[in-house]
Amino acid sequence: MLETKTIIEEKQGEALDRKSKPIAGNGKKVYIESYGCQMNFSDSEIVASILETEGYSTTRLMQEADIVFLNTCSIREKAEQTVRKRIKSFRKEKVRKPHMIIGVLGCMAERMKSKLLEEEKLVDVVVGPDAYRDLPSLLEEVDGGRKAVNVILSKEETYGDLNPVRLGGNGVTAFVSITRGCDNMCTFCVVPFTRGRERSREPESILNEVRQLSKDGYREITLLGQNVDSYLWYGGGPRKDFDKLSKEEKERSVNFAQLMDLVAPIDRKIRIRFSTSHPKDMTDDVLKVMAKHENICKYIHLPFQSGNSRILEMMNRGYTREWYINRIEAIKTIIPDCSISADVITGFCSETEEEHKDTLSLMEYVKYHFAYMFKYSERPNTLAQRKYEDDIPEETKARRLSEIIDLQQKHSLERLQKDVGKTYEVLVEGVSKKSENELYGRTTHNSVVVFPKENYKAGDYVMVKINSCTSATLIGEAI
Ligand code: 5AD
Ligand code: SF4
Repeated sequence: MLETKTIIEEKQGEALDRKSKPIAGNGKKVYIESYGCQMNFSDSEIVASILETEGYSTTRLMQEADIVFLNTCSIREKAEQTVRKRIKSFRKEKVRKPHMIIGVLGCMAERMKSKLLEEEKLVDVVVGPDAYRDLPSLLEEVDGGRKAVNVILSKEETYGDLNPVRLGGNGVTAFVSITRGCDNMCTFCVVPFTRGRERSREPESILNEVRQLSKDGYREITLLGQNVDSYLWYGGGPRKDFDKLSKEEKERSVNFAQLMDLVAPIDRKIRIRFSTSHPKDMTDDVLKVMAKHENICKYIHLPFQSGNSRILEMMNRGYTREWYINRIEAIKTIIPDCSISADVITGFCSETEEEHKDTLSLMEYVKYHFAYMFKYSERPNTLAQRKYEDDIPEETKARRLSEIIDLQQKHSLERLQKDVGKTYEVLVEGVSKKSENELYGRTTHNSVVVFPKENYKAGDYVMVKINSCTSATLIGEAI
């Protein structure tokens, strides 16, 4: 079920009109811990913004918090297990601090609400990704000694009018969300159920957020969406295909290529990145806009999931191996020096050894700069869980995954080795974790570069000559 709203007390016949009684947070301290994708981290900044407006403040220390929130991820079983462990450690802290409120936000909210609240009584409040505006009144209920939950999914909510509070950032890079939800229904994926229908954010609010980031001295923004290529503003509401728009809607519509064309000129010193691209929707127009603007980074994260067309069909990805290769060729033609990364799933239902080899051969063909590689993890209520058997033995999944990882490491190293001897403009993000005397930053290709600090600092653009590399990092010196 996609849309539910439960106020536990309502079940006991005690309905409350929560909207009519806003209350200030009185400086109460909120600690938010985020898991999963960049979208979740970005959402935590929206949560902070909503709560700060109500008089709450944020803290980076769980120990001094009056309210702790876990912004959760459901994408794979392991992500959920990590969150459950973390809730248990919050419970221990609550023994010392009984007034502390524990809340679960994000993708686990809908799935786990009754378990977390009623059965195991682990948390006080559960709030889904589209209900954050309701947080102040939900917290008020909890203050009144009740448990509270709102996991309604919306077809319109984009939080477009809010000004996110940049949490725990480096003051250099920031996320700007441009769409919410996903309509793609990949059969393995829980996101359409946890985050609901896809909707695009009004372009002017995106441009205003970027203008503000520019004023605040930010140097890089990442436009975020589950499928940025399907961004289409036509006036608000759930996603529609361009062909289905009315004449007026078509006239005022803005697609992803047009949006980037508007964002890039705002501040040429700001680098633009975006994630995630979808092979079925990535147009040549998007690639041409990337080529046109120097400050749009030459890097595309283009998940392929499998190199075999039968498996792609079963995954409902909406493209074949040939189509994917066609998109790779388009990238190479339009942006010859573009780096490409991917997501891949191994051991999907019924995947044969031959089909696994197709994944390896696609990797050989593209030679990705980087890849996120996963074993298939069956998720409750997804289409794959309902239609297919999760029949690949765990050892086979693990062996196929390690073959994929080995191949990718080889390709990552080869790619980075090609950069040795070259000079790149690096945007400095901060001090290297390994040494205080070194800085780290990224190239346009999203490769991490480490180099001696000298007098440079976070936010600087520095020309760095690459002298050597590992399979994950370029090592150089400023010139
Ligand atoms: N099992 C394994 N990996 C998954 N992903 C999404 N759902 C699953 C699942 N059920 C991976 C996909 C996606 C990335 C964000 O997570 O590769 O692109
Ligand atoms: Fe999940 Fe597919 Fe949507 Fe990505 S595009 S969030 S994998 S359903």
